[in-house]
Amino acid sequence: MTRILLIVGGGIAAYKAAELIRLLKKRGHAVRCVLTDSGAHFVTPMTLAALSEDKVYTTLWDLKDEAEMGHIQLSREADLIVVAPATADLLARMAGGLANDLATTILLATDTPVLAAPAMNVRMWGHVATQRNVAQLRADGITVMEPDEGPMACGEFGPGRLPEPAAIAAAIEAALKPVARRLAGRHVLVTAGPTHEPIDPVRYLANRSSGRQGFAIAESLARLGARVTLVAGPVTLVTPPGVDRIDVETAREMADAVADALPADAAVMVAAVADWHVAAAPQKMKKGAAVPVLQLAENPDILARVAQGPDRPRLVVGFAAETERVVEHAVAKRIRKQADWIVANDVSGDVMGGGANTVSLITADGIETWDRLPKPVVADRLAERIADALSDPV
Ligand code: CTP
Repeated sequence: MTRILLIVGGGIAAYKAAELIRLLKKRGHAVRCVLTDSGAHFVTPMTLAALSEDKVYTTLWDLKDEAEMGHIQLSREADLIVVAPATADLLARMAGGLANDLATTILLATDTPVLAAPAMNVRMWGHVATQRNVAQLRADGITVMEPDEGPMACGEFGPGRLPEPAAIAAAIEAALKPVARRLAGRHVLVTAGPTHEPIDPVRYLANRSSGRQGFAIAESLARLGARVTLVAGPVTLVTPPGVDRIDVETAREMADAVADALPADAAVMVAAVADWHVAAAPQKMKKGAAVPVLQLAENPDILARVAQGPDRPRLVVGFAAETERVVEHAVAKRIRKQADWIVANDVSGDVMGGGANTVSLITADGIETWDRLPKPVVADRLAERIADALSDPV
C-alpha cells in the first residue's frame, strides 16, 4: 500500500480535496492529511479525518503530535507528498524555502517526491511572480500540474482552476509508478562541480559551476538502481539518496579519486575541471611593489585519461561547456578525448548555477538537440539513455 501525505491549502477548491481522498482510498492508497490554517477556513479537519480514516495534522505547535509523530517523520513516512490545492501563497513559500507552518516545514524537510496541483485566481496564476515560483519549483524537481481552464469561483474565466480530482489522481499514479531499476548491478562514476586550485592558503582559482547538473545525474542513475560513485568538487549540495560521494578540491585530487573509483561500467564526467593550476605559495601572498604573476601549469585531463586508459568503462560520457560554436567544438572534443558521447551545453547565458539546461547529445551516430529542460529532467533522460546503451549487447 502506498502512503500519500495530502497537504490541503486554503482556497475555495479545498472542498475538492475531499473527493480526491475518496478516489485515492478507492484505489487502495493510504492518505494522511495536513491542513493549513487557511485551508481550515474552507474544509474542516473532521471532513478530512472521516474520509482519510486518519488523524489530520494542522499545527507545528502541538506538543502531543510532535511527541507522537514529529513533522520530520510525517514527511519521511510518505511515498508521495501531494499539495492540493496549492495556492499562490503556498507555492511562493515553497519556492522560497520558507518553513513558517506545518505544511511548509514538512515540504522543506523532505526528500520525498512532491506533486502540486495549483488553484488560484486567473490573474494570480498569470502573475509573473507565480510563474517565476512555478518555474523555480519545477527546476527544483517538484511536479507542478497545469491548472484547468474555465469559469472560476471569483467570476473570472481562464487558467487557475484546480485540476479535476480524477486528473490529480492520475498524476499521482504516474508519479508513483515504480521506476524500472534498469541499472541494477552496474557501477557508474560521475564527476561534478568545479575544482578549486589554490594560489596560496587563502586564495584559489575557480569557475562558476554549481554541480547541480552532475548531482542530478548521479541521483537519476541511482534511482535506476546503479551503484553511483560521485566525485564532487567544492559545492554546497546535499548528497542524493543512495550515492557514494567523494569530496575533492583540486583537479589533481579529482583525477586520483576517479582512478581509485574505477573500474566502472560507465563514466559521466560532468565536472567543470580547472584546466590549469599554479604552484601554490606556502604562505599568504602579501601586497608588495610587484604585482604577482601566476605561472599556470596544465592539469591532467581526467576525461581523456579515463577514455584512453586501461580501465576504460564501456561508456564514457563527457560534457562540453561552450560559449560559442557549441556543437562544432563538442564534436571535435568527442573525437579528441575519445569519449563515446559528449553532452554539449551553451553556457553563455544563465546555465552555470541555474536550474535549466539546453543540451545537445553528440554520439558517433549524430547530434540530437533537446529542448530547454530543468536539470533534473535532463538528468533523467540521460540516465535512461545510459541504461539503453549498457543494455545493448557488447
Ligand atoms: N575534463 C576533465 N579534465 C580536465 C578538463 C576537462 O575531465 N582537466 C572533462 C570535463 O569534465 C568535461 C569535458 O572534459 O566532461 C570537457 O571539458 P572542457 O573544459 O569543456 O574541455 P577542455 O578539454 O578543457 O577544452 P576547452 O577548455 O579548450 O574547451
